[in-house]
Amino acid sequence: MTPQSTPDGIAILDFGGQYCHLIARRVREMNVYTEILPSDAKADEIRALGAVMNVKGIIFSGSPSSVKARGALTLDPAILELGVPVLGLCYGLQLLADMHGGELVKAREYGVTEAYIDEPVGVLEGLEACEQVWMSHGDTVSRAPHGFEVLAHTDRAPVAAMRHALKPIYGLQWHPEVVHTEHGAEMLRNFVFNVCGCQPNWRPLDKVEEAIKDIGSRVGGGKAIIALSGGVDSSVAAALAGMALGRRLVAVHVDNGFMRMNESEGVEEAFRGRGVNLVVVRARDRFMGRLLGVTDPEEKRRIIGEEFIRVFEDEARKVGAEYLIQGTIYPDRIESGITRNSDTIKTHHNVGGLPLKMEFRAVVDPLQDLYKDEVRALGERLGLPRELVWRQPFPGPGLAVRVMGSVTEEKLEVLRRADAIVVEEVERHPFKDRLWQYFAVLTDTKSTGVKGDERAYGWTVAVRMVESVDAMTASFSKAPWEVLERISSRIGNEIPGVTRVVYDVTHKPPSTIEWE
Ligand code: XMP
Repeated sequence: MTPQSTPDGIAILDFGGQYCHLIARRVREMNVYTEILPSDAKADEIRALGAVMNVKGIIFSGSPSSVKARGALTLDPAILELGVPVLGLCYGLQLLADMHGGELVKAREYGVTEAYIDEPVGVLEGLEACEQVWMSHGDTVSRAPHGFEVLAHTDRAPVAAMRHALKPIYGLQWHPEVVHTEHGAEMLRNFVFNVCGCQPNWRPLDKVEEAIKDIGSRVGGGKAIIALSGGVDSSVAAALAGMALGRRLVAVHVDNGFMRMNESEGVEEAFRGRGVNLVVVRARDRFMGRLLGVTDPEEKRRIIGEEFIRVFEDEARKVGAEYLIQGTIYPDRIESGITRNSDTIKTHHNVGGLPLKMEFRAVVDPLQDLYKDEVRALGERLGLPRELVWRQPFPGPGLAVRVMGSVTEEKLEVLRRADAIVVEEVERHPFKDRLWQYFAVLTDTKSTGVKGDERAYGWTVAVRMVESVDAMTASFSKAPWEVLERISSRIGNEIPGVTRVVYDVTHKPPSTIEWE
């Protein structure tokens, strides 16, 4: 690793918006370093970042709450006196407007919206007169504060972008960090390079060495187990941990009964005989027993998360390991509401689902600051097999959160077979490369059909195929009809209990990718 001089960077204040980490990621993609701080960080904390980066600008993220709500999150006003440019996004814009005496009203805008660029300057330099932007807000700035000029408006938002007439203070109502904002990258680039004057002088640190060193120092001379689901995240984490700990690492794969067709066998095959100390725990009955009669999705996730830990504790005791290593990545933490201000969308089993009391001395998450594509790049660099690195993501609680309502062996078996058909048919077609995920869901709805000239009353299977770059947002795929048709007829013909197949045509948002 070559030593670097202090890179230029952008500080991001996290007001809890779902897209906060996306902002960080977009800026890092421009080879400019970022650090995220909680929204109540003081100006001094931002100054202290000088130890790791030259703070050239500050971005305020969005938030699930309203500036006008009681106890709303605010900002240390001294931050605006630091003399570095600031950019408020969504809530960030509203906060800036409110702090400077502007007016806000309740007026919601949601989804792709046309923004009319009145002044293509600063952050908006080089943009078209009408831009497609992504909106997601309940309050709107109705009057810009004194001393600010309006740079853009929409049909519903008179102040969709503004800047201070003299100081480098900008605000955008929309989310440039989300791919649905067509020229969002240009807007951020304008801020980072033109307004803040950053140099693109940050190269991602050698994460391999950094992560290995970190695991080594945290585990010391002890032993650790790693939760190995066989997905890309846990496989990359296992490879790193293996390099750090060698034989002091035991990889534990739990077959909880919610795996896809032949999945546990595949994991065993991929890791056996590769110098990995692998233990496969067959724990179907244990998990099924705990889910008996449980229908609430969050409750399912919590129970499965807890049971995972109990299984890991049992295995750790057997081998004398005190540390648990997991493949948790950034988005898992965001969506589990781990950041101080964000809303919990769903509890990811390996984060928010952790029980309060655990026997482990510590849980180590070497990938916790990375996004899926960064993890994949790392996996390729470590020489992991391509099929493994590019596997579609699969939730920790597995098929249990793709069987709606109560989870039974019968429903799991129907879903496993339907899912295998979806996977097989999609993977025969080149359009697969467009997809982020493709899978089946077993709805809790039965419907009437006719099979072999007889009335049948069976399950409704939903097919979900989404395109996405980071799972923070996703679009349903306009999949070729012939693929959908083959999937539908095969499921109908090959699985006796299914009488209907439907295709999920919702984007994220408003839906999430998984159904539960
Ligand atoms: P949603 O459904 O929230 O999912 O749009 C976003 C991405 O995360 C995956 N996912 C999970 N991954 N543990 C995981 O490791 C989980 O509990 C979990 N739940 C959802 C999902 O498949 C999608 O790629």
